[in-house]
Amino acid sequence: MAVPALAYDLYSALEDEVCDARIRAAKQALGARAVVLGHHYQRAEVYKHADKTGDSLKLARLAAECDAEYIVFCGVHFMAEVADVLSRPDQKVILPDLAAGCSMADMANLAKVEAAWKELATVLDPDEVITPITYINSAADLKAFCGRHGGIVCTSTNAKGILEWAFERRRKVLFFPDQHLGRWSGHKLGVALDEMVVWDCDKPMGGLTQEQIKKAKILLWNGHCSVHQMFRPEHVDAFRKKYPDAKVICHPECAYEVCLKSDYVGSTEYILKTVHAAERGTRWLVGTELNLVNRLHEEVKHKNVNVHFMSPMVCMCSTMFRIDPQHFAWTLENLVKGNVVNQIKVPEPDASQARTALERMLAVNT
Ligand code: 13P
Ligand code: SF4
Repeated sequence: MAVPALAYDLYSALEDEVCDARIRAAKQALGARAVVLGHHYQRAEVYKHADKTGDSLKLARLAAECDAEYIVFCGVHFMAEVADVLSRPDQKVILPDLAAGCSMADMANLAKVEAAWKELATVLDPDEVITPITYINSAADLKAFCGRHGGIVCTSTNAKGILEWAFERRRKVLFFPDQHLGRWSGHKLGVALDEMVVWDCDKPMGGLTQEQIKKAKILLWNGHCSVHQMFRPEHVDAFRKKYPDAKVICHPECAYEVCLKSDYVGSTEYILKTVHAAERGTRWLVGTELNLVNRLHEEVKHKNVNVHFMSPMVCMCSTMFRIDPQHFAWTLENLVKGNVVNQIKVPEPDASQARTALERMLAVNT
């Protein structure tokens, strides 16, 4: 039987080492009833406790397949929403700190996307002509919008294949919220840069003329990731000058110019796999979040593989960092006592409609 929930105040001042021991004990007490999923950007003190780790796509699949009663999601809000939508109704998804959002996901919202759809309807019939694609880094109601309008979700792993899927159905795409992933994936597919235009959601008609809208193949929402925008082409140039034989790898949320100058571009899972498989003695410049890069550096240094961080600035995802040992211990010990705190539950009809868009994505072979 549940007892009154333990208050977070009891945890906020605990030392990390104390939390560490309590997290281990709580996980042991919960056994197979709880699974901890951890995104690759999680801080080391949390990441080490994850039962399974991955990028957004892998974690979505893991959530869909797992059997545990509780899915404790060490990541950000949109990922926990996806886990809820794809898991069974009797499973509960928990996000240790509800403030763990994603600033990029917040750059598009339903009101603005619906307003854009209406404005586009003054130029063409969007439901005939445009496939809406939402990057998984978005709120569940935007995934539901895509579900309702013949659209789909994509991740950094499959965005090019999802664009192909979309163009097999309609002539144009509205891609939100990350303009950079949209542009890079369009480029990989062979869409010319002048056929991709930025839809500025704060301007009437996205700041575009009717002619621009009619000509465009991809309308790119003007969102971006505040972490990945810190990586600049000049960082790549300076590195290559110093180490002409080194390799450069970055996440597709980086600007087009950075991706273009990189040898490899891909998701967090792809970056980890690629550098782990690198030959001894190689040197890598990595353009993605700092926690991942620091961990990778430690993991491969014994093979004499050198990992460098792309920016001279500290670029950490502050919202991923919200999941700390204190919140983590608090949620787990509450579960041991039968209390579910910080549950993420997407309401209907958004959940069903978002599931439609997510299942379309999972069915595409990319
Ligand atoms: P991945 O799906 O590549 O892990 O990316 C998620 C993300 O938020 C990157 O900033
Ligand atoms: Fe969102 Fe950027 Fe953080 Fe990824 S790194 S979760 S896109 S803010």
